[in-house]
Amino acid sequence: MTIAFGNDHAAREVRRELLDYLKGLGHTVVDFGYEGDGPADYPVYARKVANAVVKGEADCGILVCGTGIGMSIAANKVHGVRCAVCSDTYSAAKAREHNNANVIAVGARVVGVELLKDIFSAYLGAQYNPKYDPRIAMIADIERAGE
Ligand code: RB5
Repeated sequence: MTIAFGNDHAAREVRRELLDYLKGLGHTVVDFGYEGDGPADYPVYARKVANAVVKGEADCGILVCGTGIGMSIAANKVHGVRCAVCSDTYSAAKAREHNNANVIAVGARVVGVELLKDIFSAYLGAQYNPKYDPRIAMIADIERAGE
C-alpha cells in the first residue's frame, strides 16, 4: 500500500522509527511529516495527508501528534476523509473493518512507540467489511448536507 504519513513536533522523536517500521512492512510511504526543531502546527500536516488520500495519491493516511485528536479533527474537515483516533489495536482494526477509516490518527504522548507500531499493523492488516456500506453512506450523506 501507499501510505501518506504526517506528524507534528510531538512525534518528531519517533517519526523516523515509525517510517522505517512502515517501510519494513513493505509499504511505500509518502512523508509529509515535520522534522524541524520548533513547534509545528498540526492542521498543516493533517491537511496534506488528508488531501493525498482523497486525491488517490495514497491508499490511506497515518497521522501522529501528541494525542491524535487535533490531527483527526483537522483531517475530518476534508471531504471524503474518515479519520479515527486509535490508542489500541482493537479500535485500529475496527476502524478499518467497520468504519472504513481511510486515515488513522495516534498520539505519541499517549502510547509508546511499540504500541504505535502495533496499532499501525492492526489497521493496515484489517479489511473493510462491505456489509457496513449503508452506514458509511449515511456518514457521506451528513457530509454532503454540510449541516
Ligand atoms: C501539540 O502540543 C499538541 O497540541 C498536538 O500535538 C496535538 O496533540 C493536538 O491535538
